[in-house]
Amino acid sequence: MKINYFHFIFCICSFVLFTACNIKNSSSTASVNNHSYANYISAKTKHLDWKANINFDKKIIEAEATWLFTNFDKANEIIFDTKNLAISKVIIAGKEVGFTLDTTDHEYLGSALHIPIEANDSVVKIIYSTSQSAKALQWLTPQQTADKKMPYLFTQCEAIACRSVIPCQDAPAVRITYTATITVPKGMMAVMSADNPQQRNANGEYHFVMDIPIPSYLIALAAGDIDFKAIDARSGVYAEPSVLINAAAELCDMPNMMSAAEKIGGAYGWKRYDVLIQPPSFPIGGMENPKLTFATPTILAGDKSLVSLVAHELAHSWSGNTVTNASWDDIWLNEGFTTYFERRIMENITDTSYTDMLWELSYQDMMADITDLGDTNKDTHLKLEMSGRDPEDAFTNIPYEKGAHFLWLIEKTVGRKAFDKFMTDYFRDNKFKPMTTDLALKYMEAHLWKDTPKAKKEVDVEQWVFQSGLPKNCPRPGHTRFDNVEFLSKIILDSTDLFSISKTIKTGGIDNIYDKPKKWTTHEWLQFLRKLPRNLSLEKTNKLDKTFHFTNTKNSEIAFEWFMLSIGNKYTTINASLENFLLHVGRKKFVVPLYKQLIKNGNYALASNIFEKAKLNYHPATTRAVSELFIKKEIK
Ligand code: BES
Ligand code: ZN
Repeated sequence: MKINYFHFIFCICSFVLFTACNIKNSSSTASVNNHSYANYISAKTKHLDWKANINFDKKIIEAEATWLFTNFDKANEIIFDTKNLAISKVIIAGKEVGFTLDTTDHEYLGSALHIPIEANDSVVKIIYSTSQSAKALQWLTPQQTADKKMPYLFTQCEAIACRSVIPCQDAPAVRITYTATITVPKGMMAVMSADNPQQRNANGEYHFVMDIPIPSYLIALAAGDIDFKAIDARSGVYAEPSVLINAAAELCDMPNMMSAAEKIGGAYGWKRYDVLIQPPSFPIGGMENPKLTFATPTILAGDKSLVSLVAHELAHSWSGNTVTNASWDDIWLNEGFTTYFERRIMENITDTSYTDMLWELSYQDMMADITDLGDTNKDTHLKLEMSGRDPEDAFTNIPYEKGAHFLWLIEKTVGRKAFDKFMTDYFRDNKFKPMTTDLALKYMEAHLWKDTPKAKKEVDVEQWVFQSGLPKNCPRPGHTRFDNVEFLSKIILDSTDLFSISKTIKTGGIDNIYDKPKKWTTHEWLQFLRKLPRNLSLEKTNKLDKTFHFTNTKNSEIAFEWFMLSIGNKYTTINASLENFLLHVGRKKFVVPLYKQLIKNGNYALASNIFEKAKLNYHPATTRAVSELFIKKEIK
């Protein structure tokens, strides 16, 4: 049992102030339901007014959270989730009241905050500050930003880290509206998952309104040297000034994505859709914060080839943000539906030859995870069992890709027209309802299978959702643009003179086979790199690099695949580029496998040298994941 330093100090202070603060020595008496200690069945929050001062010197947020709640059961306490928060005061009806903060600081659940209430109380104000180790916060020095002028802060609350920023009922089944007053240093911009300013204001005080109810994991804040550029009347981009123009050019298809999405999801319900391009240390690809997606700058490839990530986060406006998984066991309802929906948006703005490549690459990712986990592993079910585990562990490729392939199979079985109607109805009828796997299957039964029991049998819903591995009827794209990649790859590898091929490619050549790579998109190059033999000779690796200049590519996805291959082949020419990449990019999806590959291939010292420098730039989640590799000495 660990007594958190901040709790300790603040409770002592409260005690001195004759507040009846009381540290419980036992673990929480509240049951842990859906990874939350909150008693929201009895007393449920519905609105937050958040006043927060962003203190960049101390790297903490000093705040007041005023919660409106309904006491359904005349409960005598309301329980909040907290993680490393220093609670200094709790006020109800103008009076300071005693509170109890559990001393057990659970590794990922944190500690329950118990506040005594009367039957007809409906407002509670909590005065507190965050800790320097707050899981959802990353504080950047000016040096760690693109423009290097101002410090920067952002939150990443999904899955259960909101409790490290705000005492809240941190379960996806609880929806709240919010208002916020955020104070940042003068000259800085602040943005949230709410209606946002488009210009900086002089005094550093920003007011926000989110009047559509959202779960706590979608509360989000970023502050720094941020400007705005409109794309059309309802979409735009926020980014640091030097990134803004390129970002807006790269994301110019957002309006098309929105109209494409509305054809399946129904009218967009969040008024505006903007994207904030984060500094490079952003630990994930994208986060679907309502009204304002947070995205990694690694999608800015210069040729719009990685924008399907924005289609994905936009799709969450329906699957996830409108119809929300009731618990983290049901994460495929968020991520699987969204991944399917993302492919449909991309198909609409490109064509099936493009989305077939996305399906094929993601099938490979899914199979890699199934092989890793073992095909009898329960974590390969769509419906997961996350109780007693960190919900972050649920986010493998399974809920995303097995979920998406399942919906794709249903679409192919019942026909696109019937399936699209099902999707539109599902989002409309279940708006703001916490959705469990059982409820979703019941809804499917009533709206899709009722008249077509044969189709249901053909799909085998039970096997897809409740059994392990990948069912045999998993759909696959037919012939794709990758056929040509594989064909050419063989010729290139067998050739003794790659330079002549390179010349032919550059000049157009006589044989149109060699002409093809000039038109390849990122995805064809990824397939090319993934399908190269893993034990390529140094000589061939070197020739490939000289021909296609992989080591110096600015495309993060291609660089990643090339680095993985090259580390395995002991091709050390990449080392300077690799180090530069690891020093600047903090996206876990790239960073963790790269360190793993280095350690596995006998480069422990190199990996640890780079990590010592790079970790200063990483988000705590990235640092934690990489540190674990060094502890485990991840050899296998
Ligand atoms: N909701 C997720 C982000 C997330 C993942 C939060 C894991 C917490 C834990 C988001 O929609 C997502 O899936 N992002 C992906 C990109 C997407 C295109 C697959 C990512 O960050 O890589
Ligand atoms: Zn997602």
